[in-house]
Amino acid sequence: MPISAGEALLRVEGLEAGYGKIRVLHGVDLTVRAGEVVTLLGPNGAGKSTLLRALSGLLPVQAGTVRLGQTVLSGAGPRSAVRAGLSHVIEGHRVFTAQTVRENLLLAAYDLPRAERAARIDEALSHFPEIAAKSHDKGASLSGGQQQMLAVAQGLVQRPRLLMLDEPSAGLSPVLVDRVLEVVARLRRQGTAVLLVEQLVEKARAVSDRVYALAQGRIVLEAAAGAPDLPERLERAYFGNAGVVHA
Ligand SMILES: Nc1ncnc2c1ncn2[C@@H]1O[C@H](COP(=O)(O)OP(=O)(O)O)[C@@H](O)[C@H]1O
Ligand SMILES: [Mg+2]
Repeated sequence: MPISAGEALLRVEGLEAGYGKIRVLHGVDLTVRAGEVVTLLGPNGAGKSTLLRALSGLLPVQAGTVRLGQTVLSGAGPRSAVRAGLSHVIEGHRVFTAQTVRENLLLAAYDLPRAERAARIDEALSHFPEIAAKSHDKGASLSGGQQQMLAVAQGLVQRPRLLMLDEPSAGLSPVLVDRVLEVVARLRRQGTAVLLVEQLVEKARAVSDRVYALAQGRIVLEAAAGAPDLPERLERAYFGNAGVVHA
């Protein structure tokens, strides 16, 4: 069922997940509305990647629910998540280095009708002229930034309703960070919702509608991306009031 702008697209309630007996997420509530860009902030080890893995079905949900539109994703597995419209670009620029750019994109398109694959690949590449020009080159010949663009393009091949990007800018030069975030801004204009994990708070805010902060597996802050007091609120959320000096 189509969802119009402003309606909840992703709804996460009371989510608990972790690794074996180790519980990492403790009752996470989070919403992404249709067409919205939401940034998930938080220190290393907070559970951001674990949260994305649980949302996309790479990790089992131990409690709580995940819904994308009308579809309940919790317990459904990664293929159901993709089919429902959720693409997850995992941390680290993981592409197949022995395959060409186009072959990497074909792998991401494997479950699409054969007749649609080429058009979807071209559509995904249209965001990244710098790798479109290299579509017959091996993944290994791409720079780190270009490999990241290819990883994002792989996520776009499915034409997702929600694209989740886990630290897409990690290890990239400032210019390439801007390129990747520019694509996020473009997706937002086109109405694709994005859940972005990003360490560069100021750059992320510039392309986002809202932010959440996660600390020790719990959401400790939700705010409009443009809130002028966001840096102070983030600091308080991470460290508690003790760390803040009031003049
Ligand atoms: N595969 C794993 N097995 C066991 N523990 C893990 C695994 N991956 C992450 N963890 C633990 O889960 C916690 C959250 O990690 P992670 O979700 O990667 O945090 P973030 O992405 O916010 O840096 C950390 O304590 C980390 O050590
Ligand atoms: Mg992570």
